Amino acid sequence: MLITGATGGIGAAVARAAADRSYRVMAAGRDTGQLDRQCAEMPGSIPGPLDLRSPGGLAASLPALDRLDALVHCAGVAEVASVEETPHSMWLETLTVNVVAAAEITRMLLPALRRAAGHVVFINAAPGLHAVPRWSAYAASKTALRELADSLRAEEAPYGLRVTTIYPGGTATDLLAKVRARFGRPYHAADCIQPATLASVVLTLLDMRDDAYLPEVSVLPTPRR
Ligand SMILES: NC(=O)c1ccc[n+]([C@@H]2O[C@H](COP(=O)([O-])OP(=O)(O)OC[C@H]3O[C@@H](n4cnc5c(N)ncnc54)[C@H](OP(=O)(O)O)[C@@H]3O)[C@@H](O)[C@H]2O)c1
Repeated sequence: MLITGATGGIGAAVARAAADRSYRVMAAGRDTGQLDRQCAEMPGSIPGPLDLRSPGGLAASLPALDRLDALVHCAGVAEVASVEETPHSMWLETLTVNVVAAAEITRMLLPALRRAAGHVVFINAAPGLHAVPRWSAYAASKTALRELADSLRAEEAPYGLRVTTIYPGGTATDLLAKVRARFGRPYHAADCIQPATLASVVLTLLDMRDDAYLPEVSVLPTPRR
């Protein structure tokens, strides 16, 4: 299984859960020291240094794989800014990391995914379904990511690939803490989805019997009484 954003809150939890289930994991991210430390604690895992701001350089960084059972796209950036506040550089980074790199990694790994009749999982977000004021570039990127997943699902059906988009609600990570602060909203980690819970959803999807799968899944935090 290859997981992008494996140094992040959700990606690290998915990598841990996958290693616990004896998947051979390639944990991809930018921080090589962090990746090495994580992989030392996950038997059967290897680090995959990747900077998604430069999709043109990804081919040299990706391993040559014969088969790939699962590709889980967790990497993402989520700057809070309106159209008025979003400079060209932020548009480029958001669309490049959140969409273009995901498409490029998927494209390069398609032969291995096809051989395994594998599963591609995209971690999307509610702004991929409904625009959110002051989150313009992020919403645009997640909407594009949803359409990328839908195109891929239709195109790759003849090869037996499964493609799932997950829309998580607030999940207790550094990213959510930062986003809530920028929106001036409270953040209580205990009231959010825990990354390990979201990871268990991903692993449940991947472990389903192969006669059916879930193309889209929304995950919400349980309301507190
Ligand atoms: N947390 C939530 O409430 C929530 C809800 C819905 C959807 N999501 C989505 O879930 C995904 C993971 O979010 P998270 O909460 O786990 O955030 P996070 O902790 O900030 O993790 C984001 C990951 O993306 C990686 N990344 C960012 N820019 C990169 C780049 N240029 N090259 C390579 N990797 C890069 C980060 O690596 P570095 O550490 O090197 O930056 C990190 O591993 C995102 O796509 C986010 O949109 C999150």
